[in-house]
Amino acid sequence: MREISTIIEDVRALKIFNSRGEETVEVEVETVDGLGVASAPSGASRGKWEAIPFPPGGVEESIKKVEELIAPKLVGMDAEDQESIDETLREIDGTENFGNIGGNLAFAISLATAEAAADSHNLNLFQYLGGNLDIELPLPLGNVLGGGKHARGSVPDIQEFLVLPVGARTFEEAAELNVKVHRKIGEILLKKNVGFNGGRGDEGAWAVNLSNREALDVVNQAVEEVSDETGRECRFGLDIAASSIWSEDKGVYVYARDGVERRPQEQLEFVSEVIDKYRLIYVEDPFDEEDFESFTELTKEFRGKVMICGDDLFVTNRERLRRGIELGAANAIIIKVNQIGTLTEAFKTVKEAKKAGYVTVVSHRSGETTDTKIAHLAIGFHSPILKSGVLGGERIAKINEILRIESVFEGRTKLSSLQIR
Ligand code: PGA
Ligand code: ZN
Repeated sequence: MREISTIIEDVRALKIFNSRGEETVEVEVETVDGLGVASAPSGASRGKWEAIPFPPGGVEESIKKVEELIAPKLVGMDAEDQESIDETLREIDGTENFGNIGGNLAFAISLATAEAAADSHNLNLFQYLGGNLDIELPLPLGNVLGGGKHARGSVPDIQEFLVLPVGARTFEEAAELNVKVHRKIGEILLKKNVGFNGGRGDEGAWAVNLSNREALDVVNQAVEEVSDETGRECRFGLDIAASSIWSEDKGVYVYARDGVERRPQEQLEFVSEVIDKYRLIYVEDPFDEEDFESFTELTKEFRGKVMICGDDLFVTNRERLRRGIELGAANAIIIKVNQIGTLTEAFKTVKEAKKAGYVTVVSHRSGETTDTKIAHLAIGFHSPILKSGVLGGERIAKINEILRIESVFEGRTKLSSLQIR
């Protein structure tokens, strides 16, 4: 029998659309014995230090660069040599932030390459990345109500209200609990006189005309009721996406829906009070992306109990994470591969985060495709949490992929145990 070959034979790129109807890129990497297909998500509340999604000429320019520059270099290389592939992408680009070829293109090539290597060996991507014996499934962190840049009109300023089914015993149970909380919120909102008509934002979370406080109360009620009804504890958290409401000029966080402005110290007090009052288990980006110091203060206060998570703060960047580790800023980190551009670099950030005791949260973006690779990344990286929404075809695609894995590998999977340090 001839040996399996993971040598790349072709790299093709195609323009497709994401869940917001924006143009994005899908890449196919073909090896002698396998195929990988990956498409890139896009953010709406992007961090200042992220990779540039696409070059000035947009998706078309990225695709042209695949044909003219990238494919000729990658064909003949070994898809198993992920690090060389990713370094080659860096070299071809020649900038710090993938400004020439686009971070989203780099992401799609990098992940399609990994999948092509896995497929050549007839393995699932998660097995290829993270082994086959000890399959840890992440807890799903699900967006149930939202506002900010992910919705339109009069909605809460806090971008995401997120449920975490900590009492679930299996992934199936966890996914079901998230759906139950989402549904329960819909029922509560229908009974309230707030003009609710079933509208949802970019990530499938309810978008409704509530103040931030009212929204907290509604989610809290739903989480408590579902916990009581099922006997399985659900908790919730927030992604404040504070860089989106930070006014550099005025030096305040602007809560436009509530008509309130908070100075950094007041923001710190507000967030602490909300964590205590609602027993939050997770708070993402409670401060502006440059304010490591406030992250440090909040983390000090809640260490070991609450995940204080950096998204725009860290942008999946190892250097920025190192700064956080030194300062004791945050104890959890969002991992979005397209923030940094390549699988190799994201993996290095994950390794560093784990070593320092940070919880890693592999995450979707607000503009997604039906690509399911982040489900595989979460398992392969042994990430305790996958943040991928509750409803919407492009969100549920990731959840369903893990349900398939839980079913196919029955008896060999376990739900990840979350340790907050
Ligand atoms: P995004 O942000 O819109 O940039 O994907 C989502 C998030 O802040 O987690
Ligand atoms: Zn975020």
